[in-house]
Formats: sequence, structure tokens, C-alpha cells
Amino acid sequence: MDVKQVANERLSWLKWKNIAPLREKLDALDEIDSIHDIGDVIKISGDILDSEKEQIDSLLYDLKPWRKGPFEIFGTFIDTEWNSSIKYNLLERYFDLSNKCVADVGCNNGYYMFRMLKQNPKHIVGFDPSPHYKTQFDFLNCFIKSDIVYELLGIEHIEFYHRKFDVIFCLGVLYHRSDPIKSLKSLKKSLNKNGVLFLDSFIIDGDDHVALTPKKTYSKIPNVYFIPTVVTLINWCKRAGFKNVELLNIKKTDLNEQRHTKWLKGDSLESFLDPNDPNLTIEGYPAPKRAYIKALI
Ligand SMILES: C[S@@+](CC[C@H](N)C(=O)[O-])C[C@H]1O[C@@H](n2cnc3c(N)ncnc32)[C@H](O)[C@@H]1O
Repeated sequence: MDVKQVANERLSWLKWKNIAPLREKLDALDEIDSIHDIGDVIKISGDILDSEKEQIDSLLYDLKPWRKGPFEIFGTFIDTEWNSSIKYNLLERYFDLSNKCVADVGCNNGYYMFRMLKQNPKHIVGFDPSPHYKTQFDFLNCFIKSDIVYELLGIEHIEFYHRKFDVIFCLGVLYHRSDPIKSLKSLKKSLNKNGVLFLDSFIIDGDDHVALTPKKTYSKIPNVYFIPTVVTLINWCKRAGFKNVELLNIKKTDLNEQRHTKWLKGDSLESFLDPNDPNLTIEGYPAPKRAYIKALI
């Protein structure tokens, strides 16, 4: 598969009628001197004119929904649906990215990739087929000015990519794949010798080697295929060829981590759960809980 060609062809997605007006506004932004501070909140600041502030706020509004963050952009706090610092901070203690080639598969607007810059990796490549999230990334990066490469490619392309990686993050993606072991095999093929995969997935409780297949939606999310027990998730990794698979953490999603804010369009966790029993989703399945895994080849 010629993924360079696929990635190039997909740049035309930035001309879709819902994306093109965002790109035009982005291209029309003045060159602005700014500084940034990368922490739990990614902050971009600087002295700007009122007219520039209006231009930026208007684009921030048009770029909704903002799911991953939070960000503070010239004084405007983007209180994203997810407090992504919780997941990032949970994982950060387990990795050292200095001088490493890193991939973030399902990178969304790049929140984690911007956080990773602090560890001085050699390269960071984000894979996500969403032109909307790429546009959020491009907006943020026009101030942060990093060398991060954002490819409009999916997990299904990574094994054909021209570069292999020392560390791959694949967070919140596996349950969207109808063939999770095939996806894990392809992540394994994309790792260099001594490479490491950081993975998270929804899980269900239990010790059996089984996975839940939602009838239609899970927590109102439409394209969720398999939600394994932890032993099943570990077994998937082993069957994909990973040698050393370690469970790092298990965490239930709570309203501190995911909730409706004004920067979202539509519902969030509050309305994804059974109003009479927060331990169940609206469909009657166990409420969202994730396992975090480190897998070595
Ligand atoms: C549930 S979000 C997870 C975002 C982030 N990784 C996190 O853990 O917070 C899933 C992301 O995967 C992206 N995505 C959709 N299809 C994909 C694919 N085929 N390969 C990789 N990412 C994909 C979506 O655009 C979205 O940004």
C-alpha cells in the first residue's frame, strides 16, 4: 500500500464543505508573536490586538467540538469535554521519550503530542483520519510551531508507513476496530527493535476470556465492536506477538474526566449513563472503565 499517496489524497478532505471555511479562517490569521506553556492546561499567550482576539475567539468557536484538552488560548479557556491530562498524567510516569521516534495513533487534536514535546522526542507522528481534528491541531501548532507531523491516516495504515517507531501510543482506538488482534499485529510490525506500545481500551470486569460485543451502541457510541476483560485484552496482545504485557492501571471514567461543556456539540457522559444506576450505560452495559497496558515486543 502506498500510504504516502493515500495521505496526499486525503489532504483534499480539507476542502470538504464543512472544513473549507475553517481552513480559510485559519489561513487568514495574522502572524502573531506568542509564547506557550505546556502543562495540564496547554496555554498560548501573548500581546494581541482586540481585532486579533476577536478573530481567534471566532475560530475557536467554529472549531467546536473540542473534545481533548484543556487549552487556554490568549485568555480564553477551552474547557474540553475530556480532561485529557488525567490519562496523560496516569501514563507519563511509565515512559521516557527522549530521542525516541513516537507515534500517537488516534491523536485527535494533538493534546498528548504537545504534552510529549516536553520529553524531547526525536520525531512525533500523529495518525488520525479526521480533517476536523487536524484543523484543530494546525490551529494550535500555528502558535506552538512544533515539528510534529499529523497524517490523515488511520491505524490500518501505520504498518505501511515509511517510518517505524520506538514508542507507539494507541489510546481509545482499539474498541473501534472490528479486528483488534489484526490491529495489534500491525502496531507490532510498526515498532522498532525494543519498541513499546502503550494501549488503553474499555474493559468489562471478569476473569473469563471473553469480550462484550454491544448490540448497537455502547454508552451511545456507535462504532464500538469489542470490549474485553483484562485477561482477554492481555491475551489479544500476546496473540498479536507482544512478549511482555503489563497491566498498568484500571480506571472508571467519571464526570471529573468527561462531561458536557460549552465547547462540545451534543451530549456527554451524564446522558450516556443510566439515570437510575451510574454503574450501567444507557443501554444497560457496564459503565465505561479502561485498562492501561504496556506491551513490549
Ligand atoms: C476515542 S478518541 C481517542 C482520542 C485519544 N487517543 C484519547 O485517548 O483521548 C478516538 C480517536 O480516533 C480517531 N480515529 C478514527 N478512526 C481512526 C482510525 N482508523 N485510526 C486511528 N484513529 C482513528 C478519531 O478521529 C478520534 O480522534
